[in-house]
Amino acid sequence: MKVETFETPQDAAKALAGEVAELIRTRAAEGRNVVLGLATGATPLPFYAELVRLHKEEGLSFANVISFNLDEYSGLDHDHPESYWYFMHTNLFNHIDMKPENINLPSGTVKGDEIAAHCAAYEQKIKDCGGIDLQILGIGRTGHIGFNEPADDFPELTHLVDLAPQTLAANARYFDEPDTMPRQAITVGLGVLMRAKRILLLLSGSGKAEITERLLCGRIVPQVPATILRLHPDVTAVIDEDALQLVRAHAPNLIP
Ligand code: GLP
Repeated sequence: MKVETFETPQDAAKALAGEVAELIRTRAAEGRNVVLGLATGATPLPFYAELVRLHKEEGLSFANVISFNLDEYSGLDHDHPESYWYFMHTNLFNHIDMKPENINLPSGTVKGDEIAAHCAAYEQKIKDCGGIDLQILGIGRTGHIGFNEPADDFPELTHLVDLAPQTLAANARYFDEPDTMPRQAITVGLGVLMRAKRILLLLSGSGKAEITERLLCGRIVPQVPATILRLHPDVTAVIDEDALQLVRAHAPNLIP
């Protein structure tokens, strides 16, 4: 895993958006699509704001972009303000020129027996589009990526997951009535992420200092799902100084 450090989340967002913009433009010049894997949460917000700025001020077109989001809460429909569908449209898709048919998220309303087929179809659609060219990832305090929570094994396939208590506590702040927060979500499996051609993992803020240390300095274990990314051939962890503080204090020679 390559590590790039930045003073602030805004500096990191600019660098990331610059890489994404270059990929989109290169592919557009070749007449080809780009498949992006996208994440929710507070961490990627400055990155999405920078993509919107590049579209509005510098004419970056997203007409050749196909996106697949990592996850969606189970039980929330599109219009729910805490659904990830709503989050992505409010923070990114409504402000750029992506074609609606190129936007993909797992369904929050598929139920019961239909869930397994929905998960398999989501993975198949990613494969049919040629796989993910560039995956943007954040990380949960449990070390989850997407909603792949700590477990005894690394979950390979897209699936319905019970959210960990720490995740419920961390994300409840986004819900007006925290009791209404879904306890389950559909998430792409780690197999989807490990097949992405390139991954950018964003870690920002002091709230991520502990998990940043476990990610970089701990063992590769399914109890910290993001550690599997260290086995991926092309992943860059993009980390700001607040998130790096414990690594700088305990293992400064492990980072640039
Ligand atoms: C959610 C998402 C993750 C995201 C995590 C961290 O749980 N499923 O994909 O990485 O939140 O969110 P934040 O960036 O707000 O800390």
